[in-house]
Formats: sequence, structure tokens, C-alpha cells
Amino acid sequence: MPTLAPTLSPVTTPPRPTPRVRPAAAASTLDLPAVSFFGRTLDEYGRFFALDPSALRGRAVLDVAAGPSSFTAEARRRGVDAVAVDPLYDRPHAELAARVRDDYARMFEQIREKRRLFRFKTFPTFDAAETDRRAAAARFLADYEGNGRHGRYVRASLPLLPFLDGAFDLVLCAHLLFIYATRFDFAWHVTACAELARVSHGEVRIHPLVGPGGKPYAELDRLRGELGALGITTEVRKVNYEFFVGSSSMLVLNPQTT
Ligand SMILES: C[S@@+](CC[C@H](N)C(=O)[O-])C[C@H]1O[C@@H](n2cnc3c(N)ncnc32)[C@H](O)[C@@H]1O
Repeated sequence: MPTLAPTLSPVTTPPRPTPRVRPAAAASTLDLPAVSFFGRTLDEYGRFFALDPSALRGRAVLDVAAGPSSFTAEARRRGVDAVAVDPLYDRPHAELAARVRDDYARMFEQIREKRRLFRFKTFPTFDAAETDRRAAAARFLADYEGNGRHGRYVRASLPLLPFLDGAFDLVLCAHLLFIYATRFDFAWHVTACAELARVSHGEVRIHPLVGPGGKPYAELDRLRGELGALGITTEVRKVNYEFFVGSSSMLVLNPQTT
């Protein structure tokens, strides 16, 4: 298990303002007024991150902005030394269960209303997607209750992670960067990517590369330039996955280790 760095900065939980939807824009973009507590299974992570879970056995893997994803719970059962990070991991089980109830209801209502923003490549129907993602949250909640206090679920918040340099073999971050691009500015994205790269001595994989309207993140080239100047090489890789429109690629960061 990777060692925690000695100093931890206070973690702030993102505020949750009242949702406001402008009717003209509503159909063509996801309305994401706050970061949703919404998660996916190891199988879905495997698809959008092009992972072979059996190849991760014995490796240290960090899932940042993990929410109620069951990646860590399932990966641990397969012998992966997985750790999950989220700002809400200091909250009691009952509070996270309530967040799952509310955020899942809101997200699936919106997903069904905005069907033009979705492609049925990975899931055949919205019902299939909902069943799978609810299974993820149920697995997460069961594991969190039993293992949350043993270092598997760490409360932390980008752009600062409480781990030593190069502590992990692989670092993953799904559905926070880029998809919430209107909430986090460009400077935040640069700092967050550099921090993800700092704690990995292997790759960092980030998915998806689109904003809430399904359009590619407009600052991606500029971001890659900034990271290159910091000694972090980057690559966009296609993946065999698509549910939210345009979510068929990932950004891979390779920290230059000397
Ligand atoms: C939409 S969920 C994604 C969960 C999971 N990665 C997945 O793809 O299924 C986004 C998560 O990011 C967390 N989050 C919000 N702000 C964050 C920050 N600054 N650093 C890390 N996580 C953050 C939220 O609490 C939420 O659980």
C-alpha cells in the first residue's frame, strides 16, 4: 500500500448550487451544476480505460475522483492493490447512500430526456446502463462500510493528492476533468494533470475528453503543450467504448521519470 505523504491540506467539498437549466441549451448538453456522486463498475472502467484487470494483479492503482464507482472494491478482490480518492470519503455510509439515491435519480432522468447525447455501443439500452451503474454503487457502498477506515478510501481533492511521488504504478481519473470543464478552469486542469502525473511512475489515464455537450475539450492541445513543458508526454488513444457521445478516447500521460 503506497505511503501517505506527511502533510494533508484541508479538503473542501464542492458546493451544490440549485440546478438551473436554460431551456434552449438543455437538450444539447448535460446540466451539471455540481459534481455528481455517480459511479461505474470495473467492467466499464476496463472498457473506457482499455484495461486488462488480470494484468493489474499485484500492481498499485489509484482511482482519483472515484465517487461510488466499484472499481476499487472489485479490483481488490482480484488482487490489485487499488486505492480510491474522493472529497466525500470522510462522510458516513448513510450520507453517501443518500447522495447515491438523489444523484442517480437526477442523472438517469436527465440521461433519458437527452437521448441524442448517448450512443448504444457499450450498453444496448438506458435500462442496461442504469442497472450496471446501480450495481456499481451497491458494491461500493457495501465495501465502503467494511473497509473505508482502512486506507482503501482516502478523502482528498484535486489538485492536491496526499501521496508520495511515483507511489502508484497506474493512476486513473474518470468523469471529472474535461466533462466538468465549465466548472474547473484551464489552470486547474494543468495543475490537476501535473499532480496525477506526480503520484504515478507509470501512466495516468484520463477519460473522457469531451465536455458536457459531447464536444471535444477545446483546450486539449494547449493543455498538452503545458504538460509537455513540464516534462509530461501525452497521447490521445482511441478506446472501444461509447455511451455518452464522443466518449471514445482517453488521454494518457507519461511522466518522464529520471
Ligand atoms: C461523476 S463522479 C465519477 C466517478 C467515477 N470516477 C466514475 O467514472 O464512475 C465524479 C466524482 O468526483 C468527485 N470530485 C469532485 N471534485 C473533486 C476534486 N476536486 N478532486 C477529486 N474528486 C472530486 C465527486 O465527489 C464525485 O464523486
